[in-house]
Amino acid sequence: MAAPSQISFEQRIDALKNLPKVMRLVWHSAPLVVSSSLLYRLAAALTPLGVLAVSKRIIDLVVDTIRTHNPPPSHQIWILLALEFIFAAGGLVLGRAIDYCDARLADEFGRDVSVRLMKHAASLDLPLFEDPVFHDKLERARIQAIDRISLLNAMGTLFQRAIALASLAAGVIYYDPWIFVLLLFCVLPAFLGETHFALVGYSLAHRMTPIRRELDYLRVLGTSRESAKEVKMFGLADYLRDRYATLSKSLISENNKVTRRRLAWGAAFAIVGSLGYYGGYTFLVWQALESKITVGTLTFVAGALAGVNTELQSLFSLFSSISEQALFLTDLIDFFAVRPKIRSKPNAIPAPRPIRDGIEFRDVSFRYPGSEKMVLNRVNFRIEPRQRIALVGENGEGKTTFVKLIARLYDPTEGAILLDGVDLRDYRVEDLRKEIGIIFQDFFRYDMAVRDNIATGRVELIQDDAAIWEAARRSGVATMVERLPGGLEQMLGRRFEGGVDLSGGQWQRMALARAYLRDAQVLILDEPTAALDAVAEAEVFANFAELTRERIAILISHRFSTVRLADRIVVLADGRIIEDGSHDQLIASGGRYARLFEIQAANYR
Ligand SMILES: Nc1ncnc2c1ncn2[C@@H]1O[C@H](COP(=O)(O)OP(=O)(O)OP(=O)(O)O)[C@@H](O)[C@H]1O
Ligand SMILES: [Mg+2]
Repeated sequence: MAAPSQISFEQRIDALKNLPKVMRLVWHSAPLVVSSSLLYRLAAALTPLGVLAVSKRIIDLVVDTIRTHNPPPSHQIWILLALEFIFAAGGLVLGRAIDYCDARLADEFGRDVSVRLMKHAASLDLPLFEDPVFHDKLERARIQAIDRISLLNAMGTLFQRAIALASLAAGVIYYDPWIFVLLLFCVLPAFLGETHFALVGYSLAHRMTPIRRELDYLRVLGTSRESAKEVKMFGLADYLRDRYATLSKSLISENNKVTRRRLAWGAAFAIVGSLGYYGGYTFLVWQALESKITVGTLTFVAGALAGVNTELQSLFSLFSSISEQALFLTDLIDFFAVRPKIRSKPNAIPAPRPIRDGIEFRDVSFRYPGSEKMVLNRVNFRIEPRQRIALVGENGEGKTTFVKLIARLYDPTEGAILLDGVDLRDYRVEDLRKEIGIIFQDFFRYDMAVRDNIATGRVELIQDDAAIWEAARRSGVATMVERLPGGLEQMLGRRFEGGVDLSGGQWQRMALARAYLRDAQVLILDEPTAALDAVAEAEVFANFAELTRERIAILISHRFSTVRLADRIVVLADGRIIEDGSHDQLIASGGRYARLFEIQAANYR
């Protein structure tokens, strides 16, 4: 396991470079909490030295009194005792205040980073989400948002400890600088050891991310509602469980190895550190026995020395834990640094309204990132305003891809798509997408209320009951919604309590309602009636003319009853448009469309 060597020294330094960025994130998430926490920590850092200084005075006073039988004025003793009490009690109160600030900060930071993550993820390109490497990165970033909260604590504590250390060290150095140097040398190996193991831990976690993701996936498969039917029917439960068990065992044993080594070395280094402390302490005791220092000074310096020892050790382990966390945070910072390729140019223009000239494909070729195969190959194509076309083709010929390009979810590999004579890339992306209503083949079923499921078509209308009911009526889902106990507020899906699941066709009508709600000039329906029964399909068709009035409509369907509704039919095959015309024309020409139509028609006879 050559883990540490996988991360170079430069990368570590690089990771530390992230700390200022992280601190900025922390600061922006809650400036008030951060500043009060720092203030409290500053005060708390100075209390140990205060306590020691006061108790040195008290002890010297007591010893003097015993020796000389000459008691000091009693108010002097009272003041000192009161002072020590104030320091001690103040320290306790400050500790609670710091705990409170830390808890607040953890919440605020978690919230802030999660919101930023969501916002940033939403801005990124679709192809990224289909890339497993990106997924690992996103996953690590997500966990860091929740998990790296100990970093906040560690940074605050580092600040506090550093100040406490400096004040105590000043006390020791004031007496004898060499004791301090001795101690420093004894603690150094622990620091190097901790840093080393932090590296090993990170590179282990890094390598294990894909395994963790697979584990999560297996766990979900084994326990989720979506997979339960198939898992039961195919008897997959044992297989999935064994696979999970084997994988997680290997993960745990790797982790164990590192943890054991880390603990063993940590113990050895701690012993070396203690040696330094006791070396200094022995020297002090000797000095006191030879009356070179007072008993008060002995307790003061011994106390400061013990303090320095613990502070140093914890400072080093804190520092290495911070550099470890910083390594982990590299992924978060990296994730925030990913920039979408598909975004509005600086001088992008608003989308045209109304569309006057239509959409044109000019020599458009496209292949998915990381794939060799050209899905579309030099496609030339034009659709006029208010035209309704049907896109036909066998599975995998690129129909869905074709419409994804129009929505600019991807950009063409070669060629250009024009809207009203202007390249899609010159429009503001958000504007363009607003003008396109698209119901995907694999439309999403939101585990939310009926209202939300329909209003996702146009979220501004989420409170507009009339508009939502109208869309529901047109898509044929209204009668079903009326019968639901919760009406528009009825929770759908099984994820949350009280949720009602719908049939495939009912879900599809729900998605169609979104299309009715959307005020887009281009309407794209990818297999809108695939799950509908004959009656429902007939209803949709009855409304189809109305749905697509004054709009460009692109309809993808394998059902020729649906296809016939279009003004024009376009057949995709081998990455090209091989036929283009009305139903009657294509039947008459006797090509691929005529053949497909004939096969389907034959089944109905
Ligand atoms: N996200 C993707 N990444 C890589 N390749 C993809 C992706 N989506 C689709 N493909 C590939 O692109 C080709 C066209 O897929 P597309 O989904 O556009 O076909 P389709 O005509 O809509 O098929 P269907 O009738 O089954 O819906 C297929 O060969 C498919 O394997
Ligand atoms: Mg498709």
